[in-house]
Amino acid sequence: MTPLPPAADQIAPDPAIPLPPYALRMGGQHFKKDADFVNAGVRDARVLRRRAGLGPRKRVLDWGCGAGRLAIGIKHLMGNVADYHGVDIQPELLNWAKDNLTDEHTRFTLVDAHNARYNPDGEQSFHIPAEAESVDVLYAYSVFSHMLTQDVAGYGATIASILAPKGRAWVTAFVEEDVPDCVENPTDYLKLEWKGALHCVRFDRRFFEATLYDAGLAVDEFVYGRETDGQSMYVLRRR
Ligand SMILES: C[S@@+](CC[C@H](N)C(=O)[O-])C[C@H]1O[C@@H](n2cnc3c(N)ncnc32)[C@H](O)[C@@H]1O
Repeated sequence: MTPLPPAADQIAPDPAIPLPPYALRMGGQHFKKDADFVNAGVRDARVLRRRAGLGPRKRVLDWGCGAGRLAIGIKHLMGNVADYHGVDIQPELLNWAKDNLTDEHTRFTLVDAHNARYNPDGEQSFHIPAEAESVDVLYAYSVFSHMLTQDVAGYGATIASILAPKGRAWVTAFVEEDVPDCVENPTDYLKLEWKGALHCVRFDRRFFEATLYDAGLAVDEFVYGRETDGQSMYVLRRR
């Protein structure tokens, strides 16, 4: 992944908030510096506040949370929210977060769902552990970017069912205009070398949005190409 642009107002890492060891920081080289890791989380918490209604009384589902980058960003920016729930399929990352970041308002759940890149022996399912209509803000950074159409459709339907009526989902994905519907590791795309299963899954924008629409999600907002490695961001709501 390539570095995010520096935020205007950086926050110094709070020594009271644990940070995962480098090896557990999804995102590679540019997260070696603690300040960069913390501020990438702070930046996303700010974006969620501005675009998806994040606030202290909200219930947040961080789907594909890794070792809790967003949880760390939220703690630095606003202390806590009513409920932060991180969910991931990689035990090493999730268990570090659970052991180090859990508190009264912060929890983590490991699920054994299949993903050819991150959990090839997991079970085929579109399960996200949350009650129906219980999530105010769902965050999925670089998660659909490692999934094929069937997963986008299946998890899209799950997200539509767990979002509160006025909830919003903030997700990133690789999308382009007028390309084949779905391509795994497209060659000569974004000048990066994609390696291994599902490193980069690129969708045709209309096809991606139609897949989500059929799953029950409508696009509220779209910003092209400004996220990590050239991903685009979406704000989604139930339709
Ligand atoms: C590129 S990483 C991004 C991690 C984190 N969102 C961040 O931005 O720092 C993608 C994450 O999605 C997780 N993931 C992939 N498929 C998943 C699934 N079906 N359910 C939950 N997490 C999943 C992976 O284990 C991995 O931690």
